Amino acid sequence: MGATLARLHNRMDPRRFFAIRGMEEGYASWLSREMASRKAVVLAAIARSRGRERIVGYAYGRLEGRDWNTLRDPCGVGVDVYVVPRARRRGAGRMLIEALVRELGRRGAPQAVIQVAARNDRALAIAEAMGFRRTVVELAIDPAEIRGA
Ligand SMILES: CC(C)(COP(=O)(O)OP(=O)(O)OC[C@H]1O[C@@H](n2cnc3c(N)ncnc32)[C@H](O)[C@@H]1OP(=O)(O)O)[C@@H](O)C(=O)NCCC(=O)NCCS
Repeated sequence: MGATLARLHNRMDPRRFFAIRGMEEGYASWLSREMASRKAVVLAAIARSRGRERIVGYAYGRLEGRDWNTLRDPCGVGVDVYVVPRARRRGAGRMLIEALVRELGRRGAPQAVIQVAARNDRALAIAEAMGFRRTVVELAIDPAEIRGA
């Protein structure tokens, strides 16, 4: 799911979001290293049907200290939220975001921020409907493309 989410971002803006061969292995190894950290929160959405349980989504975030670069006080950063297409629009996405923010708060984060790609209108709409406010907008350019004054 992490690799699918990464590829989805790559399709939105291939120059900003990398996608390489071996994305599954790469992401799995990154996420499992993260899961070993006490700063990370990884949650799974589980659907039960006909006596079977399946993971249909996940959320990943981490606790961060004060960051002078972004002038951000200690907080929980929500990095990934993903729900498999067949389980969407039944509230799993909202539930994951809410559970992630609550868990980050329970672990001491005085505030939570989430990172959403600028072109991900759906995720932005969901977050704003849940009460998040917009804070930072990242802009990117290749140095060769900069237009002088
Ligand atoms: C974004 C995502 C996590 C939402 O998951 P979900 O389980 O469909 O979300 P929910 O069912 O909780 O829906 C939340 C709200 O968004 C609305 N919504 C969901 N999918 C929508 C769609 N395709 N078009 C319009 N609205 C949509 C729902 O109606 C709901 O609104 P409501 O609570 O006011 O009724 C899911 O679409 C996804 O995994 N997308 C790809 C990955 C991604 O973009 N992740 C987020 C950035 S990291």
